[in-house]
Amino acid sequence: MDDRIGLMGFGSYAPARVMTNDDWSKLVDTDDAWIVARTGIRERRFAADDESTLDLAAAAAEKALADAGIGASDIDEIIVATDTPEVYTPDTAAFLQDRLGAGEVPAFDLGGSGCAGFVLALDIARTRVMAGAQRILVVGVELISRLMDWTDRNTCVLFGDAAGAVVVGRGAVEAELLGATSGTDGSRAGILTLETGGTRRPFSLEEAERGGQHDIVMNGREVFREAVKRMSAATEQVLQKIGRMKEEVALIIPHQANLRIIDAVRSRLGVDEDKVFVNLDRFGNTGSASVPLALAQAREEGRIRAGDLVLLTAFGAGFHWSAAALQF
Ligand code: UT7
Repeated sequence: MDDRIGLMGFGSYAPARVMTNDDWSKLVDTDDAWIVARTGIRERRFAADDESTLDLAAAAAEKALADAGIGASDIDEIIVATDTPEVYTPDTAAFLQDRLGAGEVPAFDLGGSGCAGFVLALDIARTRVMAGAQRILVVGVELISRLMDWTDRNTCVLFGDAAGAVVVGRGAVEAELLGATSGTDGSRAGILTLETGGTRRPFSLEEAERGGQHDIVMNGREVFREAVKRMSAATEQVLQKIGRMKEEVALIIPHQANLRIIDAVRSRLGVDEDKVFVNLDRFGNTGSASVPLALAQAREEGRIRAGDLVLLTAFGAGFHWSAAALQF
């Protein structure tokens, strides 16, 4: 009997509206040359005015279910990783359960883990399958364009909206989840945060008049340094955990925040350029959606073949980091 735990279906969704670097240069003091040189990003997708986090999540989830050849009623748990939820309470997973027409199964968000949320959710899904769940829908979704400061050139040019989803289950899996590793350093929480709306800084007229209700506070250089350190360490840790060598890795799919971060991780690990998947030039940093979007696209574009060992590695606010190993 096939007892492997892993991924059985993949899906992704990126909104149709393209926002180029030149579009940004008309709104803030920036230009295409700076954005490309410092980040590698050329364009990103932004949700339409009538699209919400739930719409993005549902579009990716429906594709993942279809790819797995199952219906919503076959799902026995839903996990949504997002830092830009549909509403404050209840979580996006509750809305998604209803929208998909899934059974009355456990559904919950993993919020606040920044860009590391999806890989951490995969790790949680794996252990929930070990504990008896059959098929878990795991979604990474972000609609950042609506919650960022469109006048802050330090942050606004970096992000994009998207969703990615997988079905994690036991049995005839396409990619076995061999192992994962995750960690947190909460002492650095203030370096990347969106704090308005929480109890520390509730929404108020004063905040609204200040125009600060959607501030993303970020020390870019600190985040950069830490992202390189943590994503490369997590990659090495997960390899050690599963007893494999980095020479055996066919493809690394890192969180897509900055091409210079990805290059630095690659050179720390001593891996060739063709073994690292990059799509941030087209989508920017899509937070928790970044890894599942890249994973689904890498597979669609034929970058992953049967037999490949593929590593996912992500880093985000918290600081949180997470890496996982997939055997296709
Ligand atoms: O997923 C986690 C989320 N966040 C990240 O991953 C971000 C990680 N950090 C980064 O990607 C980079 O630190 C940034 C792309 C944010 C910035 O790149 P940098 O090479 O670290 O630039 P810097 O912060 O050292 O800033 C250099 C200059 C500054 O001007 P001054 O002070 O030297 O005169 C900035 O004001 O670049 C300026 N700058 C810009 N110029 C044109 C910042 N943003 C822009 C912009 N256009 N959009």
